[in-house]
Amino acid sequence: MLTNSTNRRRFLRQGTTFGLGAALVAAGASRATAQIPDSDLALVTDGDIAILQFLAAAEALENDLWQQYTELSQGNVAYQQSLERIDQSLIAYINQDRRDELSHNVLINAVLESIGQLRGKSLTVDVSSFMVVPPPNVTGIAQTPRITNLQTLNVDTSWFNRYRSAQNPDLPPAPGATAQFVTITGQPTIPLSNGESAASIQLSAHCAAFHFAAIEQGGASLYNGLLDAMISPLARAIVASIGPTEVYHFVAFHKSLENLPAFSANGLSFPGIRQNPTLGQAIMPAPCTFIDATLPLCSVIRPRSDANSGPLAAASGLAASGLFAGNPGFVSAAVDLATAAETAITKQTAQLRAFAASI
Ligand SMILES: [Fe+2]
Repeated sequence: MLTNSTNRRRFLRQGTTFGLGAALVAAGASRATAQIPDSDLALVTDGDIAILQFLAAAEALENDLWQQYTELSQGNVAYQQSLERIDQSLIAYINQDRRDELSHNVLINAVLESIGQLRGKSLTVDVSSFMVVPPPNVTGIAQTPRITNLQTLNVDTSWFNRYRSAQNPDLPPAPGATAQFVTITGQPTIPLSNGESAASIQLSAHCAAFHFAAIEQGGASLYNGLLDAMISPLARAIVASIGPTEVYHFVAFHKSLENLPAFSANGLSFPGIRQNPTLGQAIMPAPCTFIDATLPLCSVIRPRSDANSGPLAAASGLAASGLFAGNPGFVSAAVDLATAAETAITKQTAQLRAFAASI
């Protein structure tokens, strides 16, 4: 088994080729090199770099899973039809999300490359050696090894309840704030074989519809919290601008559940959100506790604390969901990058507080 340090070297090795984005990374890197003033690049701290490297890896894994969903939603008719029974727009939303996550990864890596050029070392994040998970042998998906595994997932649905409640996981007490809307454990979110029954594929589509929003609400919380730690204007601009697009994605997929039909199979039951418009249409973030429980309730992204949604929480939560089943090397490397990002967050948050106190 590879050690963390070995994995980190693999992650951060020279080169930026990964899957379908290789050409785009190269193109993006030269544009960034030409246009970002050295004076801006020089202000990026080592801590900012550590956080951006974690985000580059996070965006790469997002791109990897959205790529699989795109291929199957466009190339597997039974899966496509199952998704369209939930929301006709899902196929387009999935493809647009894949495009966006890839663009996030490419941009962050291009900026890292520019910073690295100024410092005489490679800082880009390369995930190509972690593409080791074989996808299911089913119509519509290329038989290319992937980073992520969509075949046995514990899909978090607690966000559905959380955004309809006044409870904020960052503030005690929050009884029930983590209650699952539907308990989805060990389920595929994609078809696993060409002989699968229609009911089984529909079950995967229902699980996937919640997985789409689960991934994006996690990204929304992650970026939001990281804003507290970024120091350089360049790194702040990246986190401040990509973060809201994760929110944008979350909202689109959240709304796609508004007409979810009731469905039961294999012992798993989804309530008919379609039959309950009061529940389904409650997609705006209900005002919740924020900053301090004594303050008036406020409509905000939650959680945003480092403990609940920071890099380590995100990496370990995704690993616990089964998303990297069969890919222990990626888990190890991601946790290593997340740990470096956490060190940076602790240091830079303290520096910013000290700076504010000194003014
Ligand atoms: Fe993203």
